[in-house]
Amino acid sequence: MALKTDKIVSPKREVETTGHEWDGLAELNNPLPKWWLYIFAACIVVALVQMLLYPSIPGITGYWHGLLGYSTRAGVERDVKALVAERAVSMDRIAALPIADVVRDPGLLQVANTSGHITFANNCQPCHGAGGAGAPGYPALAAGAWIWGGKLEDIELTLIHGIRSGDADARMSAMPHFGADAILSPAEIQTVADHVATLYGIAGAAPSAKGAELFAANCAACHGEAGEGNRSVGAPALKSRVHLYGDTRAAIVAQVTNPRQGVMPFWNTRLDPATIKSVAIYVHGLGGGE
Ligand code: HEC
Ligand code: HEC
Repeated sequence: MALKTDKIVSPKREVETTGHEWDGLAELNNPLPKWWLYIFAACIVVALVQMLLYPSIPGITGYWHGLLGYSTRAGVERDVKALVAERAVSMDRIAALPIADVVRDPGLLQVANTSGHITFANNCQPCHGAGGAGAPGYPALAAGAWIWGGKLEDIELTLIHGIRSGDADARMSAMPHFGADAILSPAEIQTVADHVATLYGIAGAAPSAKGAELFAANCAACHGEAGEGNRSVGAPALKSRVHLYGDTRAAIVAQVTNPRQGVMPFWNTRLDPATIKSVAIYVHGLGGGE
Protein backbone atom coordinates (compact mmCIF):
# COMPACT_ATOMS: atom_id res chain seq x y z
CA MET A 1 0.00 0.00 0.00
CA ALA A 2 1.44 3.35 -0.93
CA LEU A 3 1.99 5.77 1.95
CA LYS A 4 0.56 9.18 1.47
CA THR A 5 0.61 11.80 4.23
CA ASP A 6 -2.64 13.59 4.46
CA LYS A 7 -4.19 16.06 6.75
CA ILE A 8 -7.40 15.14 8.33
CA VAL A 9 -9.59 17.48 10.20
CA SER A 10 -10.46 16.26 13.64
CA PRO A 11 -13.45 17.83 15.29
CA LYS A 12 -11.03 20.00 17.32
CA ARG A 13 -8.10 20.83 15.03
CA GLU A 14 -6.20 19.86 12.00
CA VAL A 15 -3.54 17.12 12.56
CA GLU A 16 -1.12 15.44 10.20
CA THR A 17 -1.42 11.70 9.77
CA THR A 18 1.55 9.28 9.51
CA GLY A 19 0.17 8.01 6.29
CA HIS A 20 -0.94 4.76 7.82
CA GLU A 21 -4.54 4.02 7.25
CA TRP A 22 -6.49 0.87 7.76
CA ASP A 23 -10.07 0.51 6.77
CA GLY A 24 -10.60 4.22 7.06
CA LEU A 25 -8.80 4.50 10.46
CA ALA A 26 -5.85 6.92 10.14
CA GLU A 27 -2.87 7.12 12.55
CA LEU A 28 -2.46 10.69 13.71
CA ASN A 29 1.04 12.16 13.97
CA ASN A 30 0.65 14.11 17.21
CA PRO A 31 3.83 15.75 18.56
CA LEU A 32 5.10 14.47 22.00
CA PRO A 33 3.98 16.66 24.88
CA LYS A 34 6.58 19.36 25.68
CA TRP A 35 6.88 18.48 29.39
CA TRP A 36 7.62 14.88 28.47
CA LEU A 37 10.35 15.87 26.03
CA TYR A 38 12.05 18.18 28.54
CA ILE A 39 12.08 15.52 31.26
CA PHE A 40 13.43 12.99 28.76
CA ALA A 41 16.25 15.31 27.74
CA ALA A 42 17.02 16.13 31.40
CA CYS A 43 17.27 12.43 32.21
CA ILE A 44 19.82 11.92 29.48
CA VAL A 45 21.93 14.83 30.75
CA VAL A 46 21.80 13.56 34.37
CA ALA A 47 22.73 10.04 33.23
CA LEU A 48 25.70 11.31 31.24
CA VAL A 49 26.98 13.39 34.16
CA GLN A 50 26.62 10.39 36.49
CA MET A 51 28.48 8.16 34.06
CA LEU A 52 31.28 10.67 34.06
CA LEU A 53 31.46 11.05 37.85
CA TYR A 54 30.88 7.47 39.00
CA PRO A 55 32.13 4.01 37.98
CA SER A 56 30.15 3.10 34.89
CA ILE A 57 31.43 1.84 31.54
CA PRO A 58 32.84 -1.73 31.65
CA GLY A 59 35.99 -2.44 29.68
CA ILE A 60 37.88 -5.64 28.92
CA THR A 61 40.49 -5.38 31.71
CA GLY A 62 38.77 -2.93 33.99
CA TYR A 63 36.11 -0.28 34.04
CA TRP A 64 35.72 3.49 34.05
CA HIS A 65 36.29 4.44 37.73
CA GLY A 66 34.62 7.82 37.51
CA LEU A 67 36.05 11.26 38.24
CA LEU A 68 35.08 11.05 41.95
CA GLY A 69 36.92 7.77 42.59
CA TYR A 70 33.85 6.48 44.41
CA SER A 71 33.88 2.77 45.43
CA THR A 72 31.37 0.93 47.62
CA ARG A 73 33.86 -1.91 48.17
CA ALA A 74 36.51 0.40 49.60
CA GLY A 75 33.87 1.90 51.88
CA VAL A 76 32.71 -1.49 53.11
CA GLU A 77 36.28 -2.66 53.66
CA ARG A 78 37.03 0.44 55.70
CA ASP A 79 33.87 -0.02 57.81
CA VAL A 80 34.48 -3.72 58.36
CA LYS A 81 38.09 -3.11 59.43
CA ALA A 82 36.99 -0.47 61.90
CA LEU A 83 34.26 -2.75 63.24
CA VAL A 84 36.53 -5.76 63.61
CA ALA A 85 39.09 -3.66 65.48
CA GLU A 86 36.41 -2.24 67.75
CA ARG A 87 34.88 -5.66 68.33
CA ALA A 88 38.27 -7.25 69.13
CA VAL A 89 38.81 -4.67 71.86
CA SER A 90 35.32 -5.35 73.26
CA MET A 91 35.73 -9.13 73.09
CA ASP A 92 39.06 -8.87 74.95
CA ARG A 93 37.36 -6.89 77.69
CA ILE A 94 34.45 -9.38 77.81
CA ALA A 95 36.97 -12.21 78.19
CA ALA A 96 38.71 -10.43 81.05
CA LEU A 97 35.66 -9.36 83.09
CA PRO A 98 33.37 -11.53 85.24
CA ILE A 99 30.10 -12.06 83.38
CA ALA A 100 28.08 -10.00 85.88
CA ASP A 101 30.31 -6.98 85.15
CA VAL A 102 29.97 -7.41 81.39
CA VAL A 103 26.21 -6.81 81.49
CA ARG A 104 26.70 -3.65 83.57
CA ASP A 105 28.51 -1.99 80.67
CA PRO A 106 25.92 -1.03 78.00
CA GLY A 107 28.51 -1.04 75.19
CA LEU A 108 29.85 -4.49 76.07
CA LEU A 109 26.31 -5.78 76.63
CA GLN A 110 25.40 -4.80 73.09
CA VAL A 111 28.48 -6.47 71.59
CA ALA A 112 27.82 -9.60 73.68
CA ASN A 113 24.19 -9.79 72.60
CA THR A 114 25.02 -9.38 68.92
CA SER A 115 27.82 -11.92 68.98
CA GLY A 116 25.80 -14.24 71.26
CA HIS A 117 22.84 -14.18 68.89
CA ILE A 118 25.01 -15.32 65.97
CA THR A 119 26.73 -18.02 68.04
CA PHE A 120 23.34 -19.24 69.25
CA ALA A 121 21.91 -19.47 65.74
CA ASN A 122 24.95 -21.43 64.54
CA ASN A 123 25.50 -23.78 67.48
CA CYS A 124 22.48 -24.02 69.75
CA GLN A 125 19.39 -23.46 67.64
CA PRO A 126 19.40 -26.96 66.07
CA CYS A 127 18.73 -28.42 69.53
CA HIS A 128 17.09 -25.61 71.50
CA GLY A 129 15.03 -24.05 68.72
CA ALA A 130 14.87 -20.45 67.50
CA GLY A 131 14.77 -18.01 70.39
CA GLY A 132 15.38 -20.93 72.78
CA ALA A 133 11.80 -22.13 72.43
CA GLY A 134 12.88 -25.71 73.20
CA ALA A 135 11.79 -29.06 71.78
CA PRO A 136 11.03 -32.45 73.35
CA GLY A 137 14.25 -33.49 75.12
CA TYR A 138 15.83 -30.05 74.64
CA PRO A 139 14.87 -27.59 77.35
CA ALA A 140 13.20 -24.28 76.64
CA LEU A 141 15.66 -21.54 77.51
CA ALA A 142 13.23 -18.63 77.40
CA ALA A 143 10.59 -19.99 79.77
CA GLY A 144 12.29 -19.31 83.11
CA ALA A 145 11.83 -22.99 84.08
CA TRP A 146 15.51 -23.77 84.68
CA ILE A 147 16.74 -27.28 85.37
CA TRP A 148 20.25 -26.27 86.44
CA GLY A 149 19.84 -22.55 87.05
CA GLY A 150 19.09 -19.32 85.22
CA LYS A 151 21.59 -16.86 86.68
CA LEU A 152 24.28 -15.60 84.30
CA GLU A 153 26.94 -17.61 86.13
CA ASP A 154 24.79 -20.80 86.09
CA ILE A 155 24.26 -20.56 82.34
CA GLU A 156 27.94 -19.82 81.73
CA LEU A 157 28.94 -22.88 83.76
CA THR A 158 26.44 -25.09 81.89
CA LEU A 159 27.96 -23.91 78.62
CA ILE A 160 31.59 -24.32 79.65
CA HIS A 161 31.27 -27.88 80.94
CA GLY A 162 28.01 -29.20 79.52
CA ILE A 163 25.63 -31.73 81.05
CA ARG A 164 26.56 -35.45 81.08
CA SER A 165 28.90 -34.32 78.31
CA GLY A 166 32.05 -36.29 79.08
CA ASP A 167 33.85 -33.14 80.27
CA ALA A 168 35.64 -33.78 83.58
CA ASP A 169 33.60 -31.04 85.31
CA ALA A 170 30.31 -31.65 83.49
CA ARG A 171 27.06 -31.25 85.40
CA MET A 172 26.09 -34.81 86.30
CA SER A 173 22.96 -36.48 87.55
CA ALA A 174 21.34 -39.75 86.69
CA MET A 175 17.70 -40.51 87.31
CA PRO A 176 17.54 -44.28 88.05
CA HIS A 177 16.05 -46.57 85.39
CA PHE A 178 13.11 -47.55 87.60
CA GLY A 179 11.49 -49.78 84.99
CA ALA A 180 14.45 -51.03 82.98
CA ASP A 181 16.33 -51.97 86.17
CA ALA A 182 13.16 -53.33 87.85
CA ILE A 183 13.40 -50.97 90.83
CA LEU A 184 9.64 -50.46 90.52
CA SER A 185 7.15 -52.86 88.97
CA PRO A 186 5.15 -51.72 85.93
CA ALA A 187 2.09 -51.39 88.21
CA GLU A 188 4.01 -49.19 90.67
CA ILE A 189 5.23 -47.03 87.80
CA GLN A 190 1.61 -46.51 86.71
CA THR A 191 0.70 -45.61 90.31
CA VAL A 192 3.52 -43.11 90.78
CA ALA A 193 2.68 -41.66 87.35
CA ASP A 194 -0.85 -41.01 88.70
CA HIS A 195 0.70 -38.79 91.35
CA VAL A 196 3.09 -37.04 88.96
CA ALA A 197 0.15 -36.40 86.60
CA THR A 198 -1.50 -34.33 89.37
CA LEU A 199 1.74 -32.31 89.70
CA TYR A 200 1.77 -31.73 85.92
CA GLY A 201 -1.86 -30.62 86.16
CA ILE A 202 -2.97 -33.09 83.48
CA ALA A 203 -6.73 -32.87 82.96
CA GLY A 204 -8.56 -35.69 84.77
CA ALA A 205 -5.58 -36.66 86.97
CA ALA A 206 -6.87 -37.85 90.36
CA PRO A 207 -4.82 -37.77 93.60
CA SER A 208 -3.41 -41.18 94.53
CA ALA A 209 -2.31 -41.84 98.14
CA LYS A 210 -0.29 -44.88 97.09
CA GLY A 211 1.30 -42.85 94.27
CA ALA A 212 2.26 -40.03 96.66
CA GLU A 213 3.83 -42.62 98.99
CA LEU A 214 5.89 -44.14 96.16
CA PHE A 215 6.92 -40.63 95.12
CA ALA A 216 8.07 -39.70 98.62
CA ALA A 217 10.11 -42.90 98.85
CA ASN A 218 11.69 -42.95 95.37
CA CYS A 219 11.55 -39.53 93.78
CA ALA A 220 11.37 -36.75 96.36
CA ALA A 221 15.10 -36.99 97.16
CA CYS A 222 15.80 -35.49 93.74
CA HIS A 223 12.57 -33.84 92.61
CA GLY A 224 11.59 -32.40 96.04
CA GLU A 225 8.73 -33.33 98.39
CA ALA A 226 6.23 -31.28 96.41
CA GLY A 227 7.88 -31.88 93.03
CA GLU A 228 9.43 -28.42 93.06
CA GLY A 229 12.66 -29.73 91.51
CA ASN A 230 16.26 -29.47 92.69
CA ARG A 231 18.85 -27.61 90.71
CA SER A 232 21.83 -29.00 92.57
CA VAL A 233 21.07 -32.40 90.99
CA GLY A 234 19.50 -31.06 87.82
CA ALA A 235 16.14 -32.64 88.64
CA PRO A 236 13.44 -30.70 86.79
CA ALA A 237 10.45 -29.31 88.65
CA LEU A 238 7.52 -31.67 88.11
CA LYS A 239 4.99 -29.28 89.65
CA SER A 240 5.26 -27.12 86.58
CA ARG A 241 3.69 -26.49 83.18
CA VAL A 242 7.02 -26.58 81.34
CA HIS A 243 8.43 -30.05 80.73
CA LEU A 244 11.49 -31.47 79.09
CA TYR A 245 9.88 -34.56 77.61
CA GLY A 246 6.28 -33.55 77.02
CA ASP A 247 3.28 -33.04 79.23
CA THR A 248 1.39 -36.31 78.79
CA ARG A 249 0.98 -39.23 81.18
CA ALA A 250 2.63 -41.49 78.57
CA ALA A 251 5.70 -39.22 78.66
CA ILE A 252 5.88 -39.56 82.46
CA VAL A 253 5.64 -43.38 82.31
CA ALA A 254 8.30 -43.52 79.58
CA GLN A 255 10.70 -41.32 81.57
CA VAL A 256 10.27 -43.29 84.84
CA THR A 257 10.67 -46.58 83.00
CA ASN A 258 13.76 -45.56 81.06
CA PRO A 259 15.11 -42.02 81.63
CA ARG A 260 16.78 -40.45 78.64
CA GLN A 261 19.50 -38.58 80.55
CA GLY A 262 19.98 -36.05 77.76
CA VAL A 263 23.41 -34.74 76.83
CA MET A 264 24.27 -31.07 76.49
CA PRO A 265 27.69 -30.71 74.81
CA PHE A 266 30.51 -28.79 76.52
CA TRP A 267 31.84 -25.77 74.65
CA ASN A 268 35.17 -24.94 76.33
CA THR A 269 37.13 -26.50 73.47
CA ARG A 270 34.94 -25.12 70.69
CA LEU A 271 34.19 -21.53 71.74
CA ASP A 272 36.54 -19.01 73.35
CA PRO A 273 35.67 -17.61 76.81
CA ALA A 274 34.38 -14.28 75.46
CA THR A 275 32.08 -16.06 73.01
CA ILE A 276 30.78 -18.39 75.74
CA LYS A 277 30.05 -15.38 77.95
CA SER A 278 28.34 -13.63 75.06
CA VAL A 279 26.04 -16.53 74.26
CA ALA A 280 25.27 -16.98 77.98
CA ILE A 281 24.26 -13.31 78.11
CA TYR A 282 22.14 -13.73 75.00
CA VAL A 283 20.40 -16.80 76.49
CA HIS A 284 19.88 -14.97 79.79
CA GLY A 285 18.18 -12.18 77.87
CA LEU A 286 15.75 -14.44 75.99
CA GLY A 287 13.11 -13.87 78.65
CA GLY A 288 13.83 -16.41 81.38
CA GLY A 289 17.03 -15.02 82.90
CA GLU A 290 17.26 -14.64 86.69
C1 HEC B 1 23.05 -31.65 70.81
C2 HEC B 1 21.99 -30.84 71.32
C3 HEC B 1 22.35 -29.58 72.09
C4 HEC B 1 23.09 -28.51 71.65
C5 HEC B 1 23.80 -28.34 70.32
C6 HEC B 1 23.05 -27.54 72.70
N1 HEC B 1 22.32 -28.01 73.76
FE1 HEC B 1 21.92 -27.02 75.46
N2 HEC B 1 21.02 -28.68 76.23
C7 HEC B 1 20.79 -29.85 75.54
C8 HEC B 1 20.11 -30.79 76.41
C9 HEC B 1 19.66 -32.19 76.04
C10 HEC B 1 19.95 -30.15 77.66
C11 HEC B 1 19.27 -30.70 78.89
C12 HEC B 1 20.08 -31.70 79.63
C13 HEC B 1 19.39 -32.15 80.89
O1 HEC B 1 18.63 -33.13 80.80
O2 HEC B 1 19.60 -31.54 81.93
C14 HEC B 1 20.53 -28.82 77.50
C15 HEC B 1 20.57 -27.86 78.50
C16 HEC B 1 20.99 -26.55 78.33
C17 HEC B 1 20.96 -25.54 79.36
C18 HEC B 1 20.48 -25.73 80.79
C19 HEC B 1 19.04 -25.37 80.87
C20 HEC B 1 18.50 -25.38 82.27
O3 HEC B 1 17.27 -25.44 82.37
O4 HEC B 1 19.26 -25.31 83.25
C21 HEC B 1 21.40 -24.38 78.78
C22 HEC B 1 21.53 -23.02 79.44
C23 HEC B 1 21.74 -24.68 77.42
N3 HEC B 1 21.48 -26.01 77.18
C24 HEC B 1 22.22 -23.76 76.51
C25 HEC B 1 22.78 -24.12 75.29
C26 HEC B 1 23.51 -23.21 74.44
C27 HEC B 1 23.70 -21.73 74.71
C28 HEC B 1 23.95 -23.93 73.38
C29 HEC B 1 24.83 -23.46 72.23
C30 HEC B 1 26.14 -22.93 72.58
C31 HEC B 1 23.45 -25.28 73.53
N4 HEC B 1 22.76 -25.35 74.69
C32 HEC B 1 23.66 -26.29 72.62
C33 HEC B 1 21.13 -30.09 74.24
C34 HEC B 1 21.90 -29.26 73.43
C1 HEC C 1 18.80 -39.26 91.24
C2 HEC C 1 17.84 -38.21 91.05
C3 HEC C 1 16.46 -38.59 90.53
C4 HEC C 1 15.55 -39.44 91.05
C5 HEC C 1 15.69 -40.31 92.29
C6 HEC C 1 14.37 -39.35 90.22
N1 HEC C 1 14.58 -38.46 89.21
FE1 HEC C 1 13.25 -37.95 87.77
N2 HEC C 1 14.65 -36.81 86.86
C7 HEC C 1 15.94 -36.65 87.32
C8 HEC C 1 16.69 -35.92 86.31
C9 HEC C 1 18.15 -35.52 86.44
C10 HEC C 1 15.80 -35.69 85.25
C11 HEC C 1 16.07 -34.95 83.91
C12 HEC C 1 17.11 -35.53 83.04
C13 HEC C 1 16.85 -36.83 82.34
O1 HEC C 1 16.80 -37.90 82.98
O2 HEC C 1 16.78 -36.85 81.14
C14 HEC C 1 14.53 -36.24 85.64
C15 HEC C 1 13.38 -36.14 84.87
C16 HEC C 1 12.16 -36.63 85.27
C17 HEC C 1 10.93 -36.44 84.54
C18 HEC C 1 10.78 -35.66 83.25
C19 HEC C 1 10.52 -34.21 83.59
C20 HEC C 1 10.24 -33.35 82.41
O3 HEC C 1 10.29 -32.12 82.58
O4 HEC C 1 9.94 -33.85 81.32
C21 HEC C 1 9.94 -37.07 85.22
C22 HEC C 1 8.48 -37.14 84.89
C23 HEC C 1 10.56 -37.66 86.38
N3 HEC C 1 11.90 -37.37 86.38
C24 HEC C 1 9.88 -38.40 87.31
C25 HEC C 1 10.50 -39.09 88.35
C26 HEC C 1 9.83 -39.99 89.21
C27 HEC C 1 8.36 -40.29 89.16
C28 HEC C 1 10.77 -40.48 90.06
C29 HEC C 1 10.58 -41.51 91.12
C30 HEC C 1 9.98 -42.74 90.75
C31 HEC C 1 12.02 -39.85 89.75
N4 HEC C 1 11.84 -39.02 88.69
C32 HEC C 1 13.22 -40.04 90.46
C33 HEC C 1 16.47 -37.06 88.51
C34 HEC C 1 15.85 -37.98 89.35
